[in-house]
Amino acid sequence: MNVYDSRIIAQILSENGYKETADKKNADVIIVNTCSVREHAEQRAIGRIGELQDLRKENPGILIGVVGCMAQNLGNSIKGADFVVGPSGYRKLPQIIVQSLESRVQSSKKKLTTHNSQSCIEQTDELYSDIFPESKDGITAFVSVMRGCDNFCSYCIVPYVRGQARSRPPEDILKEIELLSSKGIKKITLLGQSVNEYSYNGVNFPHLLRLIDGTGVPWINFTTSHPKNMSQELIDAIRDGEKICEWLHLPMQSGANEILKKMGRGYTKEKYLDWIHKTRKSIPEVSITTDILVGFPGESEKNFNETLEVIKEVRFDSAYMFKYSERPHTKAYNMKPKVPEEMRIERLEELINIQNKITREKNSELIGTTQEVLVLGKSKRGNSLYGRTRQNKVVLFNGKASPGDFIKVKIKELRGWTPYGELLSKKEPLITRINTNLPETEHLEKLQGENVA
Ligand code: 5AD
Ligand code: SF4
Repeated sequence: MNVYDSRIIAQILSENGYKETADKKNADVIIVNTCSVREHAEQRAIGRIGELQDLRKENPGILIGVVGCMAQNLGNSIKGADFVVGPSGYRKLPQIIVQSLESRVQSSKKKLTTHNSQSCIEQTDELYSDIFPESKDGITAFVSVMRGCDNFCSYCIVPYVRGQARSRPPEDILKEIELLSSKGIKKITLLGQSVNEYSYNGVNFPHLLRLIDGTGVPWINFTTSHPKNMSQELIDAIRDGEKICEWLHLPMQSGANEILKKMGRGYTKEKYLDWIHKTRKSIPEVSITTDILVGFPGESEKNFNETLEVIKEVRFDSAYMFKYSERPHTKAYNMKPKVPEEMRIERLEELINIQNKITREKNSELIGTTQEVLVLGKSKRGNSLYGRTRQNKVVLFNGKASPGDFIKVKIKELRGWTPYGELLSKKEPLITRINTNLPETEHLEKLQGENVA
């Protein structure tokens, strides 16, 4: 969401005559977009803002602004910021930048060494619906379909810093996607804190997916879905959607009902497992990923083991795993007993070890298969290329292809735990989701026409 918001900010500023630079030494204004979901994220942002202060020596005119959730959470108490703007205030940035410059001029006239920082941290129902940011890499793009969250999970700061859930009109979403598609964007990821809660004038999320399936963008992903808002209708929309990729990110958080209840998640382990089962039954090739949080207040050894059991049972394709971090405003902040920090770390390590093994085993199941891959660029070490499958898995390969191409890769082995393969001829029929309503040859022609670069 923050990556997308940074593009919104870039769009607003470029419409006001600003240009982006990749080199911070050339910058007149630096904007740090921050997250506050865990304390660690805030500490890193504070560290980064501290490091940026050195630039003031060489360029005393520079403005350093802090935006995003931490700006909303900490406001003017953030040291080293000339301005502070929360997630709903980005339209005011051009005005705030000018005010910050004026305030600096005033202070220097009065020979003050510091000047007051400007801020905008009102919560509004801002959707930025008319702002269509550009893709950064020219191949993939995010599109926000809703902002904010009303779920108030007891550990989570998001509802306090991003405000109430509000959905964007489908017309604006479709317009933004068509615009991206006309610029040759190959993959769109729809964003929302609880994306499957989307609702606008009777259009729910599965309905929205079906509408987007009719646009020109070849691949569509979405994140993050909330288990309490799962429905067979959503599963059917993924199954039927030719462009909707077979990847579901469904944060489980904990495998213990007692903890899920204290987290206020609105589902039980049994209900969660039922959705996994239903999804896999309808879409056998689906990849399912999750978020797990360990060390929540009151999490006993037994509760933690219940989570490990579910992890082993579900066998997620991969997982983001976190240790619980106390967040201000939240209900869990005062919940007791706290799990000691060392135990949080131990549990996290144990969980990561188990899940990593499963992730590797899941990836090794791809060996011998042929995958449709969207080429994204050179690998980090630079001696092969990389891309992603429809299941959102990274694949490395060698061969001649350009970023943005859709290709077929025959998976040969794992390198580390990343599937590695060789590029097959681009002209061969693509193995992809098959729209079973079409006769075999017709859907292949259609896919080749649309997807083969
Ligand atoms: N501490 C640790 N992790 C958290 N998350 C949200 N709040 C906290 C917190 N207080 C995790 C959840 C969520 C992901 C985005 O961040 O797992 O799904
Ligand atoms: Fe936070 Fe829960 Fe909303 Fe996700 S659904 S953003 S965890 S409050």
